[in-house]
Amino acid sequence: MALHEGLILHLFMFYITIFSYLGATVAQSDNYIVHMDLSAMPKAFSTQHNWYEATLSSAASHPSSKLIYTYSHVMNGFSARLSPSELRALKNSPGYVSSFPDNPVKLHTTHSPQFLHLNPLTGAWPASDYGNDVIIGLVDSGVWPESQSFKDDGMPNIPSRWKGQCTSGTQFTPSMCNKKLIGARYFNKGLLARYPKTNISMNSPRDTDGHGTHTSTTAAGSRVEGASYFGYATGSATGIAPRARVAMYKAFWDEGSYASDVIAAIDSAIEDGVDVLSLSFGYDQKPLYQDPVAIATFAAMEKGIFVSTSAGNEGPYLQTLHNGTPWVITVAASTVDREFLGVLTLGNQVPVTGFSLYVGNFSAAQLPLVFMGNCHNLKKLIKVRRKIVACEDDYKTGTLEYQINNLGKAQVLAGVFITNNTKIRDILQYLVLPTIALSPENGEILKDYINKTKSPKVSVTFKITSLGTTRAPSVDSYSSRGPSQSCPYVLKPDIAAPGSSILAAWPSNIPVVGLGKSQILFNDYNLLSGTSMACPHVSGVAALIKGAHPEWSPAAIRSAIMTSSDLLDNKLGVIRDIGDGFKAASPLAMGAGHINPNKALDPGLIYDAGVEDYVNLLCGLKFTENNTKTITRRSSFDCSKPSLDLNYPSFIAFFNSNDSSSSSTVVREFHRTVTNVGKGPAIYHPFITPIEGFNVSVTPDALIFSKKNEKLSYKLRIEGPLVMKARVAFGQLVWLDKSHSVQSPILITRLSSKPISSSPPAS
Ligand SMILES: *[C@@H]1O[C@H](CO)[C@@H](O)[C@H](O)[C@H]1NC(C)=O
Ligand SMILES: *[C@@H]1O[C@H](CO)[C@@H](O)[C@H](O)[C@H]1NC(C)=O
Ligand SMILES: *[C@@H]1O[C@H](CO)[C@@H](O)[C@H](O)[C@H]1NC(C)=O
Ligand SMILES: *[C@@H]1O[C@H](CO)[C@@H](O)[C@H](O)[C@H]1NC(C)=O
Ligand SMILES: *[C@@H]1O[C@H](CO)[C@@H](O)[C@H](O)[C@H]1NC(C)=O
Ligand SMILES: *[C@@H]1O[C@H](CO)[C@@H](O)[C@H](O)[C@H]1NC(C)=O
Ligand SMILES: *[C@@H]1O[C@H](CO)[C@@H](O)[C@H](O)[C@H]1NC(C)=O
Repeated sequence: MALHEGLILHLFMFYITIFSYLGATVAQSDNYIVHMDLSAMPKAFSTQHNWYEATLSSAASHPSSKLIYTYSHVMNGFSARLSPSELRALKNSPGYVSSFPDNPVKLHTTHSPQFLHLNPLTGAWPASDYGNDVIIGLVDSGVWPESQSFKDDGMPNIPSRWKGQCTSGTQFTPSMCNKKLIGARYFNKGLLARYPKTNISMNSPRDTDGHGTHTSTTAAGSRVEGASYFGYATGSATGIAPRARVAMYKAFWDEGSYASDVIAAIDSAIEDGVDVLSLSFGYDQKPLYQDPVAIATFAAMEKGIFVSTSAGNEGPYLQTLHNGTPWVITVAASTVDREFLGVLTLGNQVPVTGFSLYVGNFSAAQLPLVFMGNCHNLKKLIKVRRKIVACEDDYKTGTLEYQINNLGKAQVLAGVFITNNTKIRDILQYLVLPTIALSPENGEILKDYINKTKSPKVSVTFKITSLGTTRAPSVDSYSSRGPSQSCPYVLKPDIAAPGSSILAAWPSNIPVVGLGKSQILFNDYNLLSGTSMACPHVSGVAALIKGAHPEWSPAAIRSAIMTSSDLLDNKLGVIRDIGDGFKAASPLAMGAGHINPNKALDPGLIYDAGVEDYVNLLCGLKFTENNTKTITRRSSFDCSKPSLDLNYPSFIAFFNSNDSSSSSTVVREFHRTVTNVGKGPAIYHPFITPIEGFNVSVTPDALIFSKKNEKLSYKLRIEGPLVMKARVAFGQLVWLDKSHSVQSPILITRLSSKPISSSPPAS
């Protein structure tokens, strides 16, 4: 067997997806998340909890067994197990706002600090004291507290403002926490309400999946020397904010994961006092008022908590983005400049390099080599099994895995697979057969040698790691693309960060890779790919910024990250999109650019936004009053200034057919206010990269700040055709002073600007 399917499957589990079981259980009880209007609570009740219980008892027969959680921070309301008739009764109760079924939710899935130019002598690490005392909370699959990446050597005492705790449970005691891992809680009441007979195998914060250990140590792991993936990626492993604290909120279980538990986890994180929330999961195709992550993070934003989320792994197709929520940062995944290689030394001593992640101890000198063309014919392959077999992809859709699988089934000595399909790199990690993947160019060298040689031979070496040779970063193919379906008027994703083949800590009892049935390998570190891995990089950077600028709002930190990002790769060309034939990456793939933590500390200008700005945006989206209440938790709100023009560091303009205008062109205008966070007086001038077919201009043509923290406004005007020809076009607006370049992407599209509406009610 060539593919270790279990592990491949495991990898795909990180792809954030929401399974819709709606309608599967007609007329049976289901779990619901119920939003209530607190202003309707009669004075007689001393707490929200009492009122929810009373509301539930007038609607349901055995209320105490029905209530799952009451929530106090993220929303006004509770979750409960209800029959259809009980739900109907509840809907007529005073103060009822809205309710949604409790849907299942899945997670999205050492070198990256150096790649981000983090360095102990200058920049974000020393300026923030490595994120000292900033608390990063993660809602994930738990932690493996024994990991060296959680050691707390030299860390000062836990900040006194911290209210969190470490909860004991199966194979977990509070003493497993320390000054690095300062919180560990778990949430599964929603899961148990749905499946009361479930035997939760690890009923504690301990990680039985690996995802949470990996994401938390990516964000804030301590420095560990000598980490590696079986000889690949050898070096020291360190989190992005190595002195930040970690608090784990486990809501993802082998037995299933539900929104009611995720909401409870975020509720606790807010109460405990986290500074940054890292959420490597999300929902597909949900309007903001039905998306548990969007709803719960609104409260986090109000409390000044920075929320980092993953964009999803549904790329490279447009409009596949998750977490397109205006009050969080949405992170796309990119490659790093590190490659894992193997080398074929041909009989004529010519070395040919290819990709490999084979972890076994294969060494071969001068073995017979044969070229077979494509690898569709298993019988033919079996006939040459005593050789090293080279195959060339025929690029028939969906046959890559099939051909690779055949090589393994035939049990050839070793495989060489010629393809330009970048998907091969994800597959290589889980192959039992020693395999090298060659680019078509290197494949030609090999084929030419075979053709000209009577009995071709080859030697093979694995476990070579190369740094800096490849073009990086590039946006990886799997990373979900914008625009946001839930709020198309805010350009998403926001930023790209390292997500492919990221080395981070791993539970030592969970298999990392298999070399056949008898040989399962374990390791304290693992390589994973996904926007799940990119998100905690941004959480770590946010902790560094928060450490250096504790007074900045979540929107200010997001603005600093976006406007200072890199637009060029390590070869000084524009950042490319692997999912779009290596063309220049559009803002729908990478957002503002690739994260640059050192520059983010000193952005020059900031686009700030607060609660009222987001309320004005919700009003502009014309949600029903109850839907807006569901998000804002307010009994009343002021919709006198509806606006789709949020003060955001990026621009998305729609030129589609929906304008009934007599003129042949239309104009889109954006108003922005920037705050000078530089050292003192400053003069900024705008520069616009021209976009063919559009007139883009800015007024005024200079922003003259006389002091720090002064705010000035400008207007961006885009004139273009009623319906544009291309699907998307893009450019940049850059404000420049003597030492800062504050850049914003401008994305122009004819895609729909209509937010998705509610999914059909579940009754
Ligand atoms: C909003 O909720 C209230 C209270 O249940 C209800 O009376 C009203 O009809 C709802 N409004 C809409 C537009 O659904
Ligand atoms: C529940 O799991 C525990 C630990 O794995 C096991 O010892 C026990 O037998 C299980 N109980 C049931 C009812 O499956
Ligand atoms: C490869 O060899 C090393 C050194 O002898 C050994 O530690 C390791 O376990 C071997 N790996 C495998 C997969 O057998
Ligand atoms: C080998 O060379 C012949 C003659 O030049 C050519 O037709 C054939 O395609 C070559 N085969 C390979 C595998 O390159
Ligand atoms: C890969 O090679 C195939 C066949 O030559 C070609 O059609 C395709 O465009 C190539 N893809 C990339 C990304 O280079
Ligand atoms: C751009 O401006 C010029 C000059 O005002 C005008 O003639 C042209 O139609 C404009 N182009 C578009 C695409 O709006
Ligand atoms: C245009 O408006 C119609 C009706 O409001 C809507 O269904 C359609 O999706 C819109 N088209 C675009 C491109 O936004």
